Amino acid sequence: MCGIVGYIGSKNASAVLVEGLSKLEYRGYDSAGIALLEKGVIHTERSVGKLVNLRNMLIDNKFTATTGIGHTRWATHGKPSFENAHPHRSEGLTVVHNGIIENYLELKSMLIEKGYKFESETDTEVVAHLIKSNFSGYLRKAVRKSIEQIIGSYALAVISEEEPDRIIIARKDSPLVIGIGEDEMFAASDIPAVLSHTRNFIFLEEGDIAILKKGSYEIFDIDGTPIEREIKQIDWNPVMAEKAGYDHFMQKEIYEQPRAIIDTIRGRYSLEESTVFFDGFEKVESSAKAFNRIVIVACGTSWHAGLIAKFYLEKIAKIPVEVDIASEFRYRDLVIDDKTLFLALTQSGETADTLSALRIAKKMGSTVMSICNVVGSSIARESDSVIYTHAGPEIGVASTKAFTTQVVSLLLFSIYLGQKRGVLGHDESFRYLQAIVELPEVIEKVLEQDKNILEIAKNYKDVSNFLYLGRNVNYPVALEGALKLKEISYIHAEGYPAGEMKHGPIALIDKNLPVFVLCPKSSVYEKVASNVEEVKARDGIVIAVVTEGDEGLKGKCDHIIEIPATIEELSVFPTVVVTQIFSYHCAHLLGLDVDQPRNLAKSVTVE
Ligand code: M6R
Repeated sequence: MCGIVGYIGSKNASAVLVEGLSKLEYRGYDSAGIALLEKGVIHTERSVGKLVNLRNMLIDNKFTATTGIGHTRWATHGKPSFENAHPHRSEGLTVVHNGIIENYLELKSMLIEKGYKFESETDTEVVAHLIKSNFSGYLRKAVRKSIEQIIGSYALAVISEEEPDRIIIARKDSPLVIGIGEDEMFAASDIPAVLSHTRNFIFLEEGDIAILKKGSYEIFDIDGTPIEREIKQIDWNPVMAEKAGYDHFMQKEIYEQPRAIIDTIRGRYSLEESTVFFDGFEKVESSAKAFNRIVIVACGTSWHAGLIAKFYLEKIAKIPVEVDIASEFRYRDLVIDDKTLFLALTQSGETADTLSALRIAKKMGSTVMSICNVVGSSIARESDSVIYTHAGPEIGVASTKAFTTQVVSLLLFSIYLGQKRGVLGHDESFRYLQAIVELPEVIEKVLEQDKNILEIAKNYKDVSNFLYLGRNVNYPVALEGALKLKEISYIHAEGYPAGEMKHGPIALIDKNLPVFVLCPKSSVYEKVASNVEEVKARDGIVIAVVTEGDEGLKGKCDHIIEIPATIEELSVFPTVVVTQIFSYHCAHLLGLDVDQPRNLAKSVTVE
């Protein structure tokens, strides 16, 4: 998830672009750059690290250009470095890009054969050379021809020395807006970037290409036909705008989950062939049959994702799995060796205990892989293979979209490993993949329950204790629901396997204790339903999450939240989203600092 800005008008483009990029840093900030069209010649300035480094570089430059494009990067292909920072060029033209070009390796080989030289590891440089190779005197046509050859997602802005009076922009599956000013035009990944200049915006639609000139614009739809798009007036204040109109980053990130999951799975499966593929997995693939055990190590929410993965991997890839908390793993007498596949789960890639555990496993001869959200982070760098979750920066301290994208990556990995070990057939693979493809829609439907969940939260925000119960794959969701509630609302909460209730926690139940029960239709539905009866028999309060159309628990619980049906393994997605929304509302209703709860840090880089 990167941020792009474009400007054409009469103001100093360098200043407009850097100011715009500063409002997009939440989309990624491992490097930044701008390209300016100054007297018909393109000048590029790039810098690694936060935007302040680029800003400092530009202090002494006397650019007077009034046309340019800019980019703040969140690495997906190639580590954060000067060479990989955008903009990327091909002779006489320059491109900034947000998204993922899935067939970039194929296109790169084709372009290398034609004599194009590459300076970076990015998929974006492929786009620059592709446009150049398709250029025959008309930039928009070259962009159109190029995007016909691209598979993947993109928001693009392109400038060319041959047509210095315009910026060409295009989008598919990555956001891009046009800001309309007086005798000036803007392009941006998101509204806040240019909200101080204009309130009039056009939201480009899938496949649109637009030409921006100083005082005009033209839009062409996916078929190349000129088209009018509605101009919308945006009256958000700047703080609201940064969060895309949401009150908090956590809320925004909860709502981003359908999109984040699409980005995670993009280019990694084929429904027709029922297969899964990952880049750079040669070492894992060659030992797939030789591994006799997987050891998953993580902290906090990532550890909960690991607990779900144990169900997936044992069922689908038929391999024993242990799941350990990193701070415990690193101080145990370990029995691991070269037949062990070590799997680190981490959003940040910098968690000190997880990193240390990975180093120990590597030293003991295990193959080490990770599932990680931050490209080029320490854990990603030190792993033999990495699955990047592509969730985009997660700013709220409470992890939401990082969790769901980890879990979907783990399910894909289980299918991959099951196939490589020869224990998973075509039909079963298809069944899982089909359900994964439908997952974003399932989550969208849960998000529609927001108001209902808010009303329930109003009744319980002032309680002191909560119990969360789940079973099988939904037991880790009970743990995650309880963690989410305690970390942002400071309400004490415990997660338990529902069947374990009789062995202790049942003593807590009385008319004051709310119990959140995760009870979707599943192989253990009847068992969990009996646990609901046990709570009610002791006057406990039950908030039950059930599958749409399930009449079994109606009338027996104090509140029912319905979720769409999906296969049992995937029921964790709708149930966890319900718990995220519930915790969010409790904390918000209590007036707490949702995004930065007390005593917590986003990335725990110390022991
Ligand atoms: O970056 P990591 O996934 O390694 O972080 C692990 C935990 O610190 C993290 O999941 C933490 O528990 C979250 N704040 C939970 O919302």
